[in-house]
Amino acid sequence: MQISKDAFKDPVEFAETFFKWKAHEGQKQILRSKAQFLTVAAGRRFGKSESMAVMALFEALRQPGKIIFIIAPTYDQSTVIFESVLRFLGRSPFNKLVNRVKYSPYPLLQFVHESEIHARSSDKPNNLRGRKAHLVILDEAAFVKDSAVYDVIEPMLADYNGRLIKISTPYGKNHFYDSFMKGLEGVRGYESFRFPSWMNPYISREFLELKKLEYGETSLRWRVEYEAEFVDDQNVVFPWNIIEGVVEDYSLPIRPKQGHLYSMGVDVAKYQDFTVIVVMDMTEKPYRMVYFERFNQKSWQYVVNRIETIYKRYQPKGYIDVTGVGDPIFEALKSRGVYLEPFKFTAQTKQELIDNLRAKMEMQEIVVPMLRELIDELRFFEYKMTEGGYMKMEARTGYHDDTVIALALAAYTKPATVATSRIVLPAGKYDWLI
Ligand SMILES: Nc1ncnc2c1ncn2[C@@H]1O[C@H](COP(=O)(O)OP(=O)(O)O)[C@@H](O)[C@H]1O
Ligand SMILES: [Mg+2]
Repeated sequence: MQISKDAFKDPVEFAETFFKWKAHEGQKQILRSKAQFLTVAAGRRFGKSESMAVMALFEALRQPGKIIFIIAPTYDQSTVIFESVLRFLGRSPFNKLVNRVKYSPYPLLQFVHESEIHARSSDKPNNLRGRKAHLVILDEAAFVKDSAVYDVIEPMLADYNGRLIKISTPYGKNHFYDSFMKGLEGVRGYESFRFPSWMNPYISREFLELKKLEYGETSLRWRVEYEAEFVDDQNVVFPWNIIEGVVEDYSLPIRPKQGHLYSMGVDVAKYQDFTVIVVMDMTEKPYRMVYFERFNQKSWQYVVNRIETIYKRYQPKGYIDVTGVGDPIFEALKSRGVYLEPFKFTAQTKQELIDNLRAKMEMQEIVVPMLRELIDELRFFEYKMTEGGYMKMEARTGYHDDTVIALALAAYTKPATVATSRIVLPAGKYDWLI
């Protein structure tokens, strides 16, 4: 293979020539930045992950012995870029330079010229400690905990005076916001960009219009997720520093365990929204979410069947919100031996329920997985007060809080009630479960 040094002058041309990938205007600016600390706040579907795959490859191929880490809040997210890297390579002449690709214990691509591209989750930062990197790409950076960035990721750059690229939809006043501001203030070595989603000409305008309509143009969610604004909203119930303290990167479901105690929260769909079933392991603190299910547009028989199935599996105590759907679902469940307490929503009980969830989260008494639907509903859950000083029961147009409610109901269940119902699993193997 004869490739001249000139091929590596410009990452934009490089990607066009070898991967047949044309960066759009926003991506060109990112790829051509020379800043050591590059921070990009961009909307959903802007093309963040794809441009980072190009960036990783450009760096890895440009010179021998380059060590690149792609780090994201979850393992799954980090593999998204890793997969794009492999896809781009597969259609290029550089495929011949691959020495090996492995996935265990972590994704790693090694080239014959000794450059390496690693993919990692930021959730267990200890296994990154002591690694050296020329380039670290932090995808969905706003969702990576401050402690991981400051204690582990930044020190990785020390040996080679490496580069750190943070790219994300904006959120919270955390390390991501700090680097973003440094770029704006012109601190040496820092550069920042902000791009709304619609800068990506490759995604459909109809999709964006639909989302704008669904969330509302002035909604927190639209402005943060698609306009990529850093919004300082006083009305959110669960600020990022609270959510950050309770999320971990793990997969669901976790099967029922002999002798464990479980609680369950169910929010039943009314109109357009979702039915959500949450189960938590209450055996010891912190109480860990072990099961999550969310679906819509199903018959009520289906809803009853799913609740019954999960109930029989974990034998929990808990609550079901039957407000608005009336008694038929509740009665049907009872006749099948599903004894969940009905929870009646009023402005007052809703406030109590949400306050309890927030308090448990602040004290880190619960742990939840990094599920996008769950995290997003928590992040965008807003306070609106009634004149009486209670939380308003909002009309739920295009905005869902079913997941928050189901989680809150599971967390509302008192450990003392649960304690009477230690699970007794049938003898034998449990392969029939889940
Ligand atoms: N330069 C490009 N050329 C063609 N398609 C692109 C380009 N950049 C992004 N896309 C497409 O746009 C969509 C969103 O890209 P992605 O990188 O996943 O966005 P993000 O990580 O910002 O959510 C994907 O379908 C991707 O293939
Ligand atoms: Mg992405």
